[in-house]
Amino acid sequence: MKITVIGTGYVGLTTAVSFAMRGHSVMGVDVDAAKVERLQRGQSPIYEPGLEPALQKAMEEGGLTFTANPAEAVARADALFLCVGTPEGQDGRADLGYLFKAVATLQELLPKEGGERLVVIKSTVPVGTSDQIAGMFAAYSNVHVVTNPEFLREGRALQDSLEPSRIVIGARDERAFALMEDVYADIDAPRIHTTRANAEMIKYASNAFLATRISFMNELARLCAAVGADIEVVARGMGLDSRIGPEFLRAGVGFGGSCFPKDIEALINLARATQTPLSLLEQVRAINRSQPAWFLDRMRNCLQTFAGKEIALLGLSFKPETDDIREAPSLVIVKRLLAEGAHVRAYDPVAVPHVVRLFPELTFVNTAYDALEGADAAILVTEWKECTQLDWLWVKVIMAGTFLFDGRNAWPAEHVKGLGFTYLGVGRS
Ligand SMILES: NC(=O)c1ccc[n+]([C@@H]2O[C@H](COP(=O)([O-])OP(=O)(O)OC[C@H]3O[C@@H](n4cnc5c(N)ncnc54)[C@H](O)[C@@H]3O)[C@@H](O)[C@H]2O)c1
Repeated sequence: MKITVIGTGYVGLTTAVSFAMRGHSVMGVDVDAAKVERLQRGQSPIYEPGLEPALQKAMEEGGLTFTANPAEAVARADALFLCVGTPEGQDGRADLGYLFKAVATLQELLPKEGGERLVVIKSTVPVGTSDQIAGMFAAYSNVHVVTNPEFLREGRALQDSLEPSRIVIGARDERAFALMEDVYADIDAPRIHTTRANAEMIKYASNAFLATRISFMNELARLCAAVGADIEVVARGMGLDSRIGPEFLRAGVGFGGSCFPKDIEALINLARATQTPLSLLEQVRAINRSQPAWFLDRMRNCLQTFAGKEIALLGLSFKPETDDIREAPSLVIVKRLLAEGAHVRAYDPVAVPHVVRLFPELTFVNTAYDALEGADAAILVTEWKECTQLDWLWVKVIMAGTFLFDGRNAWPAEHVKGLGFTYLGVGRS
């Protein structure tokens, strides 16, 4: 099929590459001309494991091209996948400005009759948005508007896109479902064919539920710390129950990223707007917002003060294997440490270029050991293996102090304690 992907960010670029790998003829289009130029040179503007080589291979084989010209991208396509951002707006609701701009471009460029076309909304949108967009194409006899939410996880985006956990298709008529099945013909994954509204809600509900598990564990971690229990052991014990399962039971300094915070915000706002508040989710948000501060307070208790302290901060991206820093807890932590007079040396394998722009006063270094050298204390914010698999004996030699603050419970607690470090994890006695 000839597929055009509109918006070549984390989702759009991954989607474009995976469609091309499956034999579709794909064109990616973006309003960001600099991004398109990089892509045309075969360079990925984002860090995702395996993405750049796959991008280059797909381009060499002729199945993937990029343009900044929407007319060129729209004219050729049997299916147009909208993958533009839907960030949090000023009022907490999803900002649909990019989406409606892209839809307006499609309205301009698509003929009102002739060959059938799919307009597929892959961006995460509040319930009702896709039906609204379908209404905007009511005069187009040949256009099927479909919702097809994306569930990929950054850090393993390409793999998830190639082997999705499920394919959710929201549409009105059988013809639209059949055309979408042509797009995903070779993928062996459970299908849900449903209404556009259900498809939209499945996406939000999935993210909200995962966020709820994390906040549940984070709040429980505070109790564990208070009563002398260890959240890691508790999580293992819980996760062995098949009704619970082991995923998303990790306590830490809070969740971030481009999806959970903004998606739960959008869902909370949607719920309030319809006078059916989601009070549990409001609490999930509150716990997450207070989690970095809770951990920082415990750190300060150990150090007496942050003022004048040399602190090594390991990991800046919101999770390992991505350069995405949107809503990353590291940003809150850095801000607080700097405000309280700490000298922070930060290390991250890939996210530094994004953080330099936000905190030019921060010292950035090239390795975890460079950050740790001479530090009074170290905090682990993102559990990159470069930040967790350390030679602890050497760390003991190069650090000035002995405080290790493990914001992800990913350092070997007993081992480092045995070496004479003072170890503080999240919810570990
Ligand atoms: N990032 C994730 O892990 C993830 C996972 C699942 C779903 N989603 C959802 O997918 C959507 C995209 O997220 P993302 O992280 O890829 O966003 P992103 O910000 O990385 O990328 C969006 C891209 O769209 C481009 N764009 C904006 N307006 C455009 C237009 N009119 N025409 C062409 N290009 C345009 C931007 O320049 C940018 O390159 C969001 O709704 C998000 O909630 C994201």
